Amino acid sequence: KKVSIIGVPMDLGQKRRGVDMGPSALRYAGLIEEVEEIGYEVRDYGDLQIDRSRVKESVPVNLTNLHEVIRVSEELQKEVEKIQEEGSFPLLLGGDHSMSIGSIAGLSKRYQNLGVIWYDAHADLNTADTSPSGNIHGMPLAVNLGIGHPSLTKIGGYGPKVKPENIVIIGARSIDEGERALIKEKGIKVYTMHEIDRLGMTKVIEETIEYLSERADGVHLSLDLDGIDPTDAPGVGTPVIGGVSYRESHLALEMLAESNLITSAEFVEVNPILDIKNKTGDVAVALITSLLGKRLL
Ligand code: ARG
Ligand code: MN
Ligand code: MN
Ligand code: MN
Repeated sequence: KKVSIIGVPMDLGQKRRGVDMGPSALRYAGLIEEVEEIGYEVRDYGDLQIDRSRVKESVPVNLTNLHEVIRVSEELQKEVEKIQEEGSFPLLLGGDHSMSIGSIAGLSKRYQNLGVIWYDAHADLNTADTSPSGNIHGMPLAVNLGIGHPSLTKIGGYGPKVKPENIVIIGARSIDEGERALIKEKGIKVYTMHEIDRLGMTKVIEETIEYLSERADGVHLSLDLDGIDPTDAPGVGTPVIGGVSYRESHLALEMLAESNLITSAEFVEVNPILDIKNKTGDVAVALITSLLGKRLL
């Protein structure tokens, strides 16, 4: 059993600094040791380099820091492809959610039908035309569907990376108007907090496993820590109240581990500057170990 780790200290997909320290926060919380303790051979490839110089090229309207997001996406795509060739489980540490453009570009070449579980308070289905912020971290799922600026959708030299019917969004509670329209148009499966409360997390994950195992040949878990309630995960840039609890999230990831469905994962948006004694980093590490099969007994 091998896990290969890459940190992506990307903070240019949104406007709050600090999320670039996410990978450090996860390592500081004991990630490597905890994963080794479950019995994995861990290869830590360290962090990608992000160019945070203040001299910026001009970008198309409503796509902040586009050029550096493209550059990092291309680099991450190549790194992820290398890890997959090693036959190792790719575990990517964010960094803001714009990194999913590069990670999924790298992952989905290998799969005809990559499934994606988007565990998030947000849908991240904006484009430059619909985004209220111009922040690219609110756009990666749209980009992976082939919707958005061509310089992003063509990363890796192909696209779309993911089919709408292979996506399951879990934990949504902040959806913009353009995103709502896209969800309806494409028929994307979404468990908002309403469905999670009504059905319970057990049923939500059972249905997700059944749905994806029928159609996907690999499943990537993209877990934005803001999916979890801010009382449990306060160290995130865009917190939204009324989220999934730490306990429900543990259960979800333990069930996913038992299903053997997940072939790669990323844990994103950890911002230790906004945190309380690295609480969110600790939560993320606990969830990662559950996903990788840690059990009490
Ligand atoms: N929907 C908002 C936007 O487009 C917030 C996106 C938050 N995304 C995230 N990955 N935390 O700006
Ligand atoms: Mn331990
Ligand atoms: Mn989010
Ligand atoms: Mn997100």
